[in-house]
Amino acid sequence: MTPRIAVVGSINADLVVQMPRLPGRGETVSSSEPKWFPGGKGANQAVAAARMGAEVFMVGAVGNDAPGNMCLTALAESGVTTDYVAKVSAATSTALVMVEHSGENQIVVTDGANNFVEVDSDLVSQADAVVVQFEIPESVIIAAGKSANGIFCVNAAPVREISDELANLIDVLIVNEHEFSQLGSPANGLVIVTAGDKEVVAYQDGEIVATAQPPRVDALDTVGAGDTFVGAFIVAYASGASVSDSLHRACAASALSTLKLGAQSGMPTEIEVNEFLSSRNI
Ligand code: RIB
Repeated sequence: MTPRIAVVGSINADLVVQMPRLPGRGETVSSSEPKWFPGGKGANQAVAAARMGAEVFMVGAVGNDAPGNMCLTALAESGVTTDYVAKVSAATSTALVMVEHSGENQIVVTDGANNFVEVDSDLVSQADAVVVQFEIPESVIIAAGKSANGIFCVNAAPVREISDELANLIDVLIVNEHEFSQLGSPANGLVIVTAGDKEVVAYQDGEIVATAQPPRVDALDTVGAGDTFVGAFIVAYASGASVSDSLHRACAASALSTLKLGAQSGMPTEIEVNEFLSSRNI
């Protein structure tokens, strides 16, 4: 079955610079020429899910500006429905993305149109899965969770405290190891903890239920790798795959996404993930 996925989340224009190493506090370093890419955790997850074959609806907001148009075009080119993205008077949110030659990164996200996302309850209530992240206001996330009838998946990034009201709505929580350690015992239900190129662990009500080892690749840019994981995982899981199989697909997609510069540029298609998994006998 082709799952219907509603992503309620952020859309950013990413201004990306590459450098031999990230600057320390108070330090100035030289970089490559800056390049603009479509990004934002919400938009990235929507693109990742669409490339994995799902029917994807983006609920978000952009400004009436060139960066917003760039982001909308990228979503549409990957097959994401953008009818639920509002054009608002605030500017499209921007992410300042520094990428070290090792692939590590640092990101600053500006305020902007992401603060004006509004949930479409009808759309959200009909989705097989609803995915949110923490680059939009908490009230919008709660509204999405309350309207969701399918799987409500929360990617708690960038990390902030999870309120009791939100915790009670979550079916699947996806965090990285740093976010996990800051959240303590964040939620019941399925909790997935990623750790870069180290083992991914899935917990159900606190017990380990599945693990997967991300395949080794020569990463060029890890920006968007976590978003690719979220998008690929939710498509597999909402299609009825086991947690274990969903983790393996998500790990493969995430690894492949790091081979190109730009959060969305390297996100693989369903066919590419299938070929990669069979080439490695996974
Ligand atoms: O997760 C990667 C994303 O984080 C980037 O695309 C940037 O926009 C920030 O939101």
